[in-house]
Parts: sequence; C-alpha cells; structure tokens
Amino acid sequence: MRILTGITTSGTPHLGNYVGAIRPAIAASHAAGVESFYFLADYHALIKVAEPARVQRSTLEIAAAWLACGLDPQRVWFYRQSDIPEIPELTWLLTCVAGKGLLNRAHAYKAAVDRNTAEGDDPDAGITAGLFMYPVLMAADILLFNAHKVPVGRDQVQHIEMARDIGARFNHLYGGHFTLPEAAIEEHVATLPGLDGRKMSKSYDNTIALFAPRAELKKLIAGIVTDSRAPGEAKDADGSNVFQLYQAFASAEETAAMRQAFADGIGWGDAKQKLFARIDAELAPLRERYEALIAHPMRIEEQLRHGAEKARAIASPLLAKLREAVGLRALDARIAPAATPGKTRTERPQFKQYREADGRFYFKLLADDGRLLLQSSGFASPKEIGALIAQARSGALDAAALLQHATPADGVDPVMLAAALRELQAEG
Ligand code: TRP
Repeated sequence: MRILTGITTSGTPHLGNYVGAIRPAIAASHAAGVESFYFLADYHALIKVAEPARVQRSTLEIAAAWLACGLDPQRVWFYRQSDIPEIPELTWLLTCVAGKGLLNRAHAYKAAVDRNTAEGDDPDAGITAGLFMYPVLMAADILLFNAHKVPVGRDQVQHIEMARDIGARFNHLYGGHFTLPEAAIEEHVATLPGLDGRKMSKSYDNTIALFAPRAELKKLIAGIVTDSRAPGEAKDADGSNVFQLYQAFASAEETAAMRQAFADGIGWGDAKQKLFARIDAELAPLRERYEALIAHPMRIEEQLRHGAEKARAIASPLLAKLREAVGLRALDARIAPAATPGKTRTERPQFKQYREADGRFYFKLLADDGRLLLQSSGFASPKEIGALIAQARSGALDAAALLQHATPADGVDPVMLAAALRELQAEG
C-alpha cells in the first residue's frame, strides 16, 4: 500500500497544518505494510507565489517542520518535487491525453473564471496556464509513484478524481501503466479554529505558527477571540475555539477535565494559560529540534537530495517504460511499421445523433472501436438528445441514468458503458 501526499511550499507551517496533516501523516507512516511518500510541492508553489525568497524559505521551514516532528527519512520517501525531473516530463505525457474540457471544470480554475466574469473582465484575465495545468502536474506527482491512497483535504478531492481520469485515459491508450489513486479524507481529524474562530488558514491570516518562539506562542494564544463571559460564569465548551484547540492536543481525560472546568466557569485567562501549557508541552521538544535543523540548512538539503535519489530510483525506470510506450524510442530499436493496426488517437467512444423515417430523433453510443454500445428510443426533439449527451459528457448523467433512455447492445454490460462514459468525460 502506497500513500503519497504533497505540501505546497508557499507558507510557514501552522498549528492547523500540524494537527490536520503533519501529525496524522507521520503516525500513518509507522504502520506496517505502508510505503509513505511525502514531498515538497515547490513546482506547485510557483503557481501561486512569485517571490523566490518566500518559496525557498517555505521549503526550508516545511522540510524542517516535518523532520522535527519525527518523520523518518530512512523509512519514508521524503523529497522535493523539483528534484525529480521525471515529474515535469510525465506532466507533458499526461498533458497530451488530458481533456481540455476536463481541466475547464477544475474548481480553482472555474472560480477564477467566475470572478473575472462577475467583474465584467475577460474570462481568462490574469489566469496563468500554470493554474489551468495544476491538476495535470498533480496527477503526475501521484501517478509517477503509483500511489494507492492520497490523504488530502476536501478541497483537493476533485484533483484526485482528475488524476484517476487522466491515468485511466493513458492506460487505455498505452497499456496499464498506472495505479488509479483514491483520495483519503481524514474524517476524524478536526479542523482547527484560528485566532478569530474561523478555520485556521493562511488565507484568513488567523494562524498560529507551529514553531513560533515560546513567548510569541503565549502572546498569540492570549489574543484568541472569546466571548465576554466573566470568571465564574459557566462557558460553552463545544462552541469555544479555546476548547477546540485544547482538545486537539489533550488526552481524553484532560479534555474531560477541561470540559468540567468550562462548566464550572473557568476564566478565559486561566483557560488560555492551560491551553498554552498543553500546546507548549507537546511542541517544546519539537521546537528545539526544529531550531537546530533550521540553523543547518545544508543538512536538510542533503536529506532532500538523498530522498530524491531514492524517489528517482522508482521514477526513472517507470518513465523509461512510459517513453517507450508512447513511442519516444531510440531509432536503433526494431522499428515497427507506422500503420500498425489497432488504436489510433482519433478513435474514441462517440455519440451519434440522427433522425429516422418515423420523424423521431435518436442517438447511439459507439465504442472506441466503432462497436454499438447503446441505442436510444425515439425523441420528439433533437434538443432533448443534445441535453442528455451534454450531461453525460459532463459527468452529471451516469450509465444507469442513460439506460433509462436507451437499450444496450447485445453483450454490453454496465461496466463497459461506464468505462466509455468516463473516457468521454476525460476527453471533455
Ligand atoms: N495541491 C495540494 C495542496 O494544495 C498539494 C499537492 C501537490 C499534492 N501535489 C500533490 C497533494 C499530490 C497530494 C498529492 O494541498
């Protein structure tokens, strides 16, 4: 079982990253029978950040944070994306099979287009091709190592689905090279509230830096927004961000005791002091390691280079196979005649619409080899058919729904239909 995830190097690690990603990932990396791949997604950082010093600083801080928190580079694959030239190379191979329509539907890109449209701008104003290609680069990260599970936040689930679609399309055209990955959403990991009570996030500017010096940590915690209940007044534990933060660091017994203290009217000052003490108890030894690491960046650099070697030992043989598979081949090899029978790139599943002598409108779905998959019943207008086909292409209508309007050809089962539909969707 391979688990893989990337961390974009665009900021400073905060408590939310620690509780939501770093701590559970390191715990998972100790499980037996698991191979863990964690990497610094610095190519992805370039999509958002045009400040070279910040990308470099963030790479250092995130690498140091993971190592300080106990990631064991002997046990896992820990590397920097830009040290793996196979990743951009695979990105191109995947770009050539990724449907542009599929990428048009990516949430981040669509949101940017919607903002532009709302402001009366050109739909693509200010949008880089990098943002548009983000899902393909991410698919390359994942497929290159044949990861089974990808732990991500909810906002990233669509990207994993796209990696599956793009991988499936490549497999279909060139043979089964890729494992199709699945998103693993950490349901039980709490999202931490930030200083203002909203989700802790860099974009809200409400974070507590994971390795803020002790005095600063104390000051930040003192500044957490609370209600104005006085000491002695009972307080609602579950509605309090102080309590939620405490819970993320405390044992079950400590949490129960704090819940009781809230009911008994603990003052906010005391509650924050206890929160600080609890967080600091967990982080102090890690902070010490972090500071030692940051003071010697070349040691981290060496770890990352070593990690890259380990990762490339897997990536480069796979890429050699992929080059061969797509036809990027040495000319001394036996050269096959160009017109080999079999699939050419123009053969895709397709919908055909037509009108019969009865005056009604029909559609059929043909497989990539031209075989009939589905034959529709008659429709009064071609518009209805157009709408159905558009929905099928966008993924809004699945095989089962399509079967309400059409009959499968002999020997065609729902799995074949679903595969053809996926392919149409990937094509966009
Ligand atoms: N896009 C991810 C994020 O912003 C980071 C990332 C890049 C990633 N490549 C990945 C995550 C591959 C998982 C797998 O969180």
